[in-house]
Amino acid sequence: MILVTGGAGFIGSNFVLDWLAQSDEAVVNLDALTYAGNLRNLESLKGNPHHIFVHGDILDHDLVGALFAKYRPRAIVHFAAESHVDRSIFGPDAFFRTNVMGTVSLLNCAKAFYETLEGSERQAFRFLHVSTDEVYGSLTFDEAPFTEDTPYRPNSPYSASKASSDHAVRSWFRTYGLPVLTTNCSNNYGPYQFPEKLIPLVINNALSGLPLPIYGDGKNIRDWLYVKDHCDAIRLILANGRVGETYNVGGHNERDNLTIVKTICRILDELQPRRDGQSYTEQITFVKDRPGHDRRYAIDATKLSRELGWRPKEHFESGIRKTVQWYLNHLDWVDGVKTGAYREWTAKQYSL
Ligand code: NAD
Ligand code: DAU
Repeated sequence: MILVTGGAGFIGSNFVLDWLAQSDEAVVNLDALTYAGNLRNLESLKGNPHHIFVHGDILDHDLVGALFAKYRPRAIVHFAAESHVDRSIFGPDAFFRTNVMGTVSLLNCAKAFYETLEGSERQAFRFLHVSTDEVYGSLTFDEAPFTEDTPYRPNSPYSASKASSDHAVRSWFRTYGLPVLTTNCSNNYGPYQFPEKLIPLVINNALSGLPLPIYGDGKNIRDWLYVKDHCDAIRLILANGRVGETYNVGGHNERDNLTIVKTICRILDELQPRRDGQSYTEQITFVKDRPGHDRRYAIDATKLSRELGWRPKEHFESGIRKTVQWYLNHLDWVDGVKTGAYREWTAKQYSL
């Protein structure tokens, strides 16, 4: 079996659902159920004996040690993190607690377990750390995309905490020989993404008649990848990646934020037109920029395609349409996450 952390969040739950749809190797899913974790994402696994959910914190060394001892996972896939850049600007401490100290705590537990292994179990063991392209900092419009050799230049507390965790993971390999793999992926989109992130926020605000807030001039560029393609890449890297290596994962799909928001509006105009016949683009509002806002991210995923044959399957046009349709079909899911804490967050961030 494998141990997954953060498997009730956006990417983690997609990963667990895809994993169990394709394999009967069990998953122990450790998640603290912060505001971003949601057991409803995993509802379809109810009664599935291959999914063992454990409510707990990655910093709980005793709990994690006990999970290793009890389940003897052949691998750990580490998603758990504080993941929202804007929240890291308001409250960086939680990001360093979970993303840095939480990762270090997991590394310690994994190392202690790994040291007890022998023979083929020891040979097979892996610690896969899921990280982000944001560790590389910001590109100008004409710079080449990030490769695995691009120097780290994180600009937000979030990306600084992820960069620190990447360094810790590397050092546990170099110093202690823990068999690690690191992935640095670009922006994901798809089902179950919490509506604080651009794409689900815009879908939700559009349908709720709220402003569609665009930071700065709307020309910041992200390289969007459908979440299922990211999950495929992680499975492939876990199976065949070279120990100690890092792999960039990206969609070859750069778009500026204004284009993304207009695309969502166009799809919503078609699938769920406004009652007054106007376009949802009428709701677009330019707001003050994010401090330290990275201008452009772009991933060069050549290493992953050359070594492991990975390519994204989903085109952006079909992926974004599927995503908008998913949110339209799951309005109850969106309502379920718009708790008091969500309203507090949007009030603080957007004065909504
Ligand atoms: P998310 O915020 O949706 O989910 C994070 C999950 O981690 C939640 O279920 C939360 O409850 C859990 N968690 C948080 N703190 C925890 C703790 N101390 N102990 C146990 N569980 C805890 O995040 P996401 O967007 O799914 O991102 C998952 C991972 O992928 C993160 O490491 C993130 O840095 C990375 N990543 C995200 C993207 C993206 O576009 N979303 C892109 C590249 C990399
Ligand atoms: O690049 C990978 C990263 O992508 C992940 O590591 C992070 O966990 C994930 O949150 C994401 O970070 P971003 O900051 O790029 O994503 P976000 O959806 O917050 O913002 C995308 C772009 O849209 C960014 O340029 C900021 C802008 N934006 C965002 C929000 C929430 C707006 O213009 N308005 C908004 O209201």
